[in-house]
Amino acid sequence: MKRRWLAIFLLGLGGCAVGGISASTERSSPRVLVLGGTGQLGAMVTRELVAAGARVVVFARPSSDRTTLVGLPVEFVTGDLLMADEVERALRGRRFDVIVSAVRVEDGDPNFYSKMMPSLLVAARAAGVRQFIHHGAVGAGDNVKKFIGLGWERVPGIFERLKDQGEGERLLRESGIRYTIIRNARLYPADHAATGVAKLTEDDTVLTPMTRADLARLTRECLLAAACLDKTYHVRDDSLAWPPPRR
Ligand SMILES: NC(=O)c1ccc[n+]([C@@H]2O[C@H](COP(=O)([O-])OP(=O)(O)OC[C@H]3O[C@@H](n4cnc5c(N)ncnc54)[C@H](OP(=O)(O)O)[C@@H]3O)[C@@H](O)[C@H]2O)c1
Repeated sequence: MKRRWLAIFLLGLGGCAVGGISASTERSSPRVLVLGGTGQLGAMVTRELVAAGARVVVFARPSSDRTTLVGLPVEFVTGDLLMADEVERALRGRRFDVIVSAVRVEDGDPNFYSKMMPSLLVAARAAGVRQFIHHGAVGAGDNVKKFIGLGWERVPGIFERLKDQGEGERLLRESGIRYTIIRNARLYPADHAATGVAKLTEDDTVLTPMTRADLARLTRECLLAAACLDKTYHVRDDSLAWPPPRR
């Protein structure tokens, strides 16, 4: 399993610089905590990581529908990410190499990340997390200034939510944990196949749609990859039509 993980990991890296990460990955399969693993993107990320040999634990609420993960060799920890005591209890005494957040803000809560991140990051540090891969949003924080004139002001509450996304990013960057932020834009329906051509870019003016399947692959490729550490990415996929179909 260890050799298989290393082979898939290196294949997936493509052109990424690996640095010293391959040596540590060789020693053991990475332990990954997936937040939002019962969701559409989270379940795809979980499958991708399990297939690559990672040991995955999914953070889920007691009410979460776990059917998309049936049959996968994953463990669950239970709690609500907005409840600091539940997060602390769920991670207490555990060790993780990586946290992947594929959480989607519920009910447009404009303080979601401001509430979630502080206790989560404390628990992540205590758990020895070496990389936090955060699926956020294009337009987070000051990035919104790059997209003036697109009519976003017609979307109720969007600027409050993007400010909160920016606060989540800031808390992560200042936490001392190495981070990889992947800002998502409009997603194609969950059953849309990967295009295979989506790429991460540090050009923060990029705004293209994308599929969750490609995001899952890009997440796996960045797992403990030196080239992805302390980076904020947008995703470019010029093969998909805008706007995505609604289903
Ligand atoms: N959908 C889009 O068009 C779109 C656009 C831009 C960015 N994104 C980003 O893409 C990512 C995933 O989106 P998605 O549509 O695939 O997500 P999704 O299917 O709606 O899944 C959301 C996940 O977040 C979990 N979650 C939400 N609040 C939680 C809480 N308080 N405690 C614990 N878990 C919680 C949900 O748990 P339950 O199973 O318990 O509900 C679920 O597992 C997110 O980062 C989102 O911001 C999506």
